[in-house]
This record gives sequence, structure tokens and C-alpha cells, in this order.
Amino acid sequence: MLTDRGFDLWADGYDKSVGVSDEEGSYPFAGYKQILNEIYNRILTDKCNSVLDIGFGTGTLTTKLYSQGCRIWGQDFSGKMIELAKARMPEAQFYQGDFSMGLVEELRHNRYDAVVATYSLHHLSDEQKTGLIESVLPLLREGGCLYIGDVAFETRAELERCRTLAGEEWDDDEIYFVADEWMRAFPQMKFEKFSFCAGLLSFVKD
Ligand SMILES: C[S@@+](CC[C@H](N)C(=O)[O-])C[C@H]1O[C@@H](n2cnc3c(N)ncnc32)[C@H](O)[C@@H]1O
Repeated sequence: MLTDRGFDLWADGYDKSVGVSDEEGSYPFAGYKQILNEIYNRILTDKCNSVLDIGFGTGTLTTKLYSQGCRIWGQDFSGKMIELAKARMPEAQFYQGDFSMGLVEELRHNRYDAVVATYSLHHLSDEQKTGLIESVLPLLREGGCLYIGDVAFETRAELERCRTLAGEEWDDDEIYFVADEWMRAFPQMKFEKFSFCAGLLSFVKD
């Protein structure tokens, strides 16, 4: 599992390596750009103003929302990722903290129109993911939405097919969402598939 230091070292080359994997249509990032575009369009269509990004990395998604006037909050544990994202979004409120232990205090006192987590939560165990999702949903304003875009599968059989296809590239340290299993715990959750290894999970607050 990559540590904060591991992400610090990956930060400068991150956008490039994600782009290459997405353009080749290979695991793990096939469908990445499409998912981020979809979340971006939905947030703008819904006229969301305040957006929290969990594990924002270099800020690929939130930089575009920021330039459209959204107010951005975020949490990440990599100092280098924060430095890169801050240079792109000087007015954003970024906090350094390990989200396996939940959101930092400052972010828990706010309310958001949308919360996004793209390609970040697979670093948590399913138990940690559940705890984080349950702590984030009450922070959404009515009608707000939590979007999780990630390596994700509709069924475990699809995950196993991808594991076989990926061969040695498969990352055993990462724990991916399997939608039909998550729907048992969160029946309101919706799942949309974007590639053989990418999916968007959304949770609207009624
Ligand atoms: C693969 S990158 C995804 C970045 C961005 N959201 C994107 O879509 O390109 C994962 C990000 O999550 C952060 N991250 C991973 N585990 C974390 C943890 N336990 N606490 C805080 N940040 C974490 C990393 O530092 C990194 O910036």
C-alpha cells in the first residue's frame, strides 16, 4: 500500500502515468477521464457551489470546478500533492490528514453540495470505507451527492476477470468496490460502469 511518502514521490509524474494508462485503455485507469468529466458535468448541472474532494491528488477534477467558481475543500495526506493542488487552486481549503482515520476536524464542521472521491478510497479496507462514507453523508446538504469514481466492478466475477486480464499489473494492495455487494449496505447507492475496470458510485442525500 502506498504511504504518504510514496504519493509524494509519485506526485510529479502522476498526471502523465494516469493519462497513459487511460489512453491505452488499460487497467487501472481505463475510463478515468470519462468518469471525472461525468462528475464535473453533474456538479455544474446541479449548480453545486461547495465541493469537498477526498484524496484530491494533483487536483485534476477540482481545478476545473474551481475555475468555474466552485468553492473547494479537500483532504489528502501527501504534502507534495497538496503543494501541487494549492498552486492550481490558491483559494481552496486543503488539509493534510490520513482519511483512514476519518476527516479532519475542520472539514467535519462544514456542509457541502457535493463530495467527490476519485481513485482514492481503494486505499482503504471495506470497513474503513464504510466508516468514511457514513461520516460523510450527513455533511451533504439536502439533494447533495457523494460521487465515488474508482476502479470498481458491478460483480465479483467482473473483478476476477479483470484480475486475470491484468496479470502481473494487478495491485493486490488495493481494495476495489464491488457494486452489488455495496448495495446491500447502501441500497440508495447507484452504480454506473465506465470501462471494464472503472465505475461511478453515487449517493444522493434525500
Ligand atoms: C491515485 S491518487 C487520486 C488523486 C485524484 N483524486 C485523482 O482522481 O486523480 C490517490 C490520492 O489519495 C491520497 N491518499 C491515499 N490514501 C490516503 C489516506 N489514507 N489519507 C489521505 N490521503 C490519501 C494520495 O495522497 C493521493 O493524492
